[in-house]
Amino acid sequence: MKTVFLTGAAGFIGSHTAEKLLSLGYAVIGVDNFDGLLYDPSIKRKNIVLLKNKNFTFYEIDIADKAELDKVFKRHKFDFVVHLAARAGVLPSLKFPQLYAEANITGTINVLEACKDAGIKRVVFASSSSVYGSNKKLPFSEEDRTDTQISPYAATKKAGESICHSYSHIYGMSIACLRFFTVYGPRGRPDMVIYKFTKNIFEGKPITVFGEGTKRDYTYIADIVDGVIAAMEKNKGYNIYNLGNSDTVEMTKLLSLMEKYIGKKAIIRKAPLPTGDVPATYADIAKAKKILGFNPKTKIETGLKNFVDWYKKEFNEDI
Ligand SMILES: NC(=O)c1ccc[n+]([C@@H]2O[C@H](COP(=O)([O-])OP(=O)(O)OC[C@H]3O[C@@H](n4cnc5c(N)ncnc54)[C@H](O)[C@@H]3O)[C@@H](O)[C@H]2O)c1
Repeated sequence: MKTVFLTGAAGFIGSHTAEKLLSLGYAVIGVDNFDGLLYDPSIKRKNIVLLKNKNFTFYEIDIADKAELDKVFKRHKFDFVVHLAARAGVLPSLKFPQLYAEANITGTINVLEACKDAGIKRVVFASSSSVYGSNKKLPFSEEDRTDTQISPYAATKKAGESICHSYSHIYGMSIACLRFFTVYGPRGRPDMVIYKFTKNIFEGKPITVFGEGTKRDYTYIADIVDGVIAAMEKNKGYNIYNLGNSDTVEMTKLLSLMEKYIGKKAIIRKAPLPTGDVPATYADIAKAKKILGFNPKTKIETGLKNFVDWYKKEFNEDI
């Protein structure tokens, strides 16, 4: 049985990844610090309870604490490392840049150092579409320059990619940096648009639409998890891959689908696009398709319906 060390295991993408890995017959050693800055950590604790399985072991540690991380690496042997832990979210990073640097840069260096010391050669790193920053050309391609991040969060993800490159170069590790595009689905993050809007529409509260409405390449969680595992199993050398649905969705379309599935009209307030946020994202996924066989199957219509159905069940919302 192969063993995966998974950081951020209690988070949205991490808990789904752990679930899928376990179902595929991998053993998973997960870590997370149940950070509470972005959203309620009780959601993360609940995710860990859902992961109860004889092949799942969990440690509550902070990856920025090298000594704690090293203890886990001493206790277990790993075949793969999937590093998803990070402080996520663009806007809070403007307020707390040091905290973002600590988790996302120091934390990533600690994970890679531990991999180097343990001789682990297969690593996946969660990057972000936000590294494209103020790039205007759509769709975003891995070949595009990424020199203009517009938030500290995005800058930490770009730094993470560079650190991964240096470790791959020096120590011969195969590292896949995955640029995720707006991931959504059941157990999604409460700070993200799909969750926030769904909640407010159910509760009859206004929602805030920025600018003319941002366009996002919303990517369903099951497709992302398939991409993460394909990268873990198939990537060779240092590579960056876009993992997106490759279908950018207008805000008007997103809202009309939400209203349809929820059965209620949204109360819309307008506000200017906040500093740090980008107006549009759209992934060119030719590289991930070709090398990883990445093939996102979930259209926004299906994925959003699944999310709203999950939300209704989770919060007993029936209209
Ligand atoms: N969800 C998206 O749309 C999206 C888009 C682009 C990139 N990403 C990246 O994907 C990864 C997973 O994101 P997510 O949406 O599941 O977010 P999440 O916040 O649900 O998961 C991240 C997890 O990492 C943990 N964590 C944070 N700092 C830590 C530390 N110092 N030590 C140990 N654990 C720590 C958090 O407690 C959390 O459970 C992150 O790296 C994020 O930046 C996500």
